Amino acid sequence: MNLYINAWQAMPDGGDLMVETRNVHLGTKDSATYDLQPGKYVKISVTDTGTGMDEEIVSRVFDPFFTTRELGRGTGLGLASCYGIVQNHQGIIDVQSAPGSGTTFTILLPAVDGAVSEEKMIADGVQRGRETILLVEDEAMVLEVGKDMLEAMGYTVLTADSGPAALAVYDSKADVIDLVILDMVMPRMGGKETYDGLKRINPRVKVLLSSGYSINGQATALMDRGCNGFIQKPFEINELSQKLRGILDERQGQLHGI
Ligand SMILES: Nc1ncnc2c1ncn2[C@@H]1O[C@H](COP(=O)(O)OP(=O)(O)O)[C@@H](O)[C@H]1O
Ligand SMILES: [Mg+2]
Repeated sequence: MNLYINAWQAMPDGGDLMVETRNVHLGTKDSATYDLQPGKYVKISVTDTGTGMDEEIVSRVFDPFFTTRELGRGTGLGLASCYGIVQNHQGIIDVQSAPGSGTTFTILLPAVDGAVSEEKMIADGVQRGRETILLVEDEAMVLEVGKDMLEAMGYTVLTADSGPAALAVYDSKADVIDLVILDMVMPRMGGKETYDGLKRINPRVKVLLSSGYSINGQATALMDRGCNGFIQKPFEINELSQKLRGILDERQGQLHGI
């Protein structure tokens, strides 16, 4: 998702986004260039026809907090998180780009021999609801997709694209908002400060934390302080629907709000 969002942002006037997958075999020579074991790999490449990058930027793209976006528009964590995810799977991610020639990100992941198991996309397991949810997320596309998912489940959705915006909405609508889905990592006011602000408005606020990273120290600390749940992005609709019901059906009968 981070690769797609970057590609989309690199093509403000439109363009093509191409995703390619193939099975490859790395011999001793090729694997050594990537510091991988020789063997079977799955290669995934994401190519855009956008602005491209110069060498200086290319050399820093995977650095945490490296961003060329204007203040408040980027966290510089998208590619650092891609790098971390791929590394955790014993793979590599590489980039090829030049100004004006678009960009290709290539991922190599070790192949497994196990049988392919098919997963149901949606249908069974999705639990519906009619409550009102405030979705707080700084990345426009994630916000849009999340809103669509929640509405498809039957919820009424309010949105906020930053911590301060979330507090403003919550301050005026705490009595109708049953639950807040809160992004942990946002520029300026992050999840922690926003959570504190929500708590000040309503000590019994129900919050489902979300993050592109798996649960870490910061998220655990917030859970310890009363956050009701954690979900990793990108949202998987069944999991999201179940976590929401789990939290919303707790302590039923209690009046919401202040
Ligand atoms: N597909 C792309 N085309 C052009 N530049 C890119 C692309 N992907 C990433 N970049 C550059 O790499 C930087 C870091 O990307 P990322 O880690 O996702 O952080 P962010 O998007 O928050 O800036 C971006 O600010 C941008 O300069
Ligand atoms: Mg990004």
